Amino acid sequence: MSTIMVLNGPNLNLLGQREPDQYGHETLADVEVMCREEAVKHGYEIDFRQSNHEGVLVDAIHEAGQLIKAGKLLGVVFNPGAYTHTSIALHDAIKGAEVPVVEVHISNVHAREAFRHHSYISPCAIGIVVGMGVQGYVLGMQGLLHKLAK
Ligand code: DQA
Repeated sequence: MSTIMVLNGPNLNLLGQREPDQYGHETLADVEVMCREEAVKHGYEIDFRQSNHEGVLVDAIHEAGQLIKAGKLLGVVFNPGAYTHTSIALHDAIKGAEVPVVEVHISNVHAREAFRHHSYISPCAIGIVVGMGVQGYVLGMQGLLHKLAK
């Protein structure tokens, strides 16, 4: 049980250049470094991924479920991007594969447009970090470790 998966959905590859007022100036590569440093502190490795494709994210959740059952993965810190607000498929994948997920949003989605207020992921997440900037990934990892690490 030595790995944490950090999974990123659509458009997060554009972090740093995309709407910096909402998402800040750090890139996804910067976020990966932050997550790796935090993981090392706790004796964990990071499996850091990003996809713009819903099915690839569903497959990653299924893979996470198998890795957890094999005792190789603790859980997933997941920023599903806009699929948060649309994807029943990701909701079903998390439930079906029995994956402990901490949902992370860089921006405070509740202070933004109404269509960002509903999440299909929140009902099947073990915890949620919203509006803390990219530090939210680190907080999400800490939450996952706090809840699940023996
Ligand atoms: C986001 C919030 C979503 O509403 C948006 O579609 C994103 C990023 C966030 O990290 O704040 O792509 O998940």
